[in-house]
Amino acid sequence: MRLALHVNGATRTVEAEPRDTLADTLRDGAGLTALHLGCEQGACGTCTVLLDEEPVRSCIVLAVTAEGREIRTLEGLAGDPMTEALRRAFHEEHALQCGYCTPGMLVTARDILRRFPRPDEATIRRELAGQICRCTGYMGIIAAIRRAGEALHETAEAGA
Ligand code: FES
Ligand code: FES
Repeated sequence: MRLALHVNGATRTVEAEPRDTLADTLRDGAGLTALHLGCEQGACGTCTVLLDEEPVRSCIVLAVTAEGREIRTLEGLAGDPMTEALRRAFHEEHALQCGYCTPGMLVTARDILRRFPRPDEATIRRELAGQICRCTGYMGIIAAIRRAGEALHETAEAGA
């Protein structure tokens, strides 16, 4: 079947089976490979994308249910100030090693900052509970999210 998916601000027509996941359809059908597949059962968070601005695990969402909704992948967040602040902070805090979990971490971290602009460590730990990193450990990731939150706050203060 043909699906018209609204992805990153544009409509993409993709071929998909009714059983196909959003993750597979975005990667294989639309060539959006920033999202990664780990567990493929909703447990690790590395496939996280935004659906109507809410983070979802795209490995357990059927592509057919995403038709008519706004999908945003990490590619679609290029230039987004929050995402750019997070990218910088992840680099500065050494918050990645192999990078496999990083796309999902960034999408989720952005959602954390959207809801909690200057989150403390406990908040980040709680909100990050569904994102699994297998190699870096979480200290750098938590520090990076805090750093990005503070940087965005300082920028907002300077512009006020
Ligand atoms: S690959 Fe989707 S949650 Fe792990
Ligand atoms: S950086 Fe390797 S899994 Fe997180």
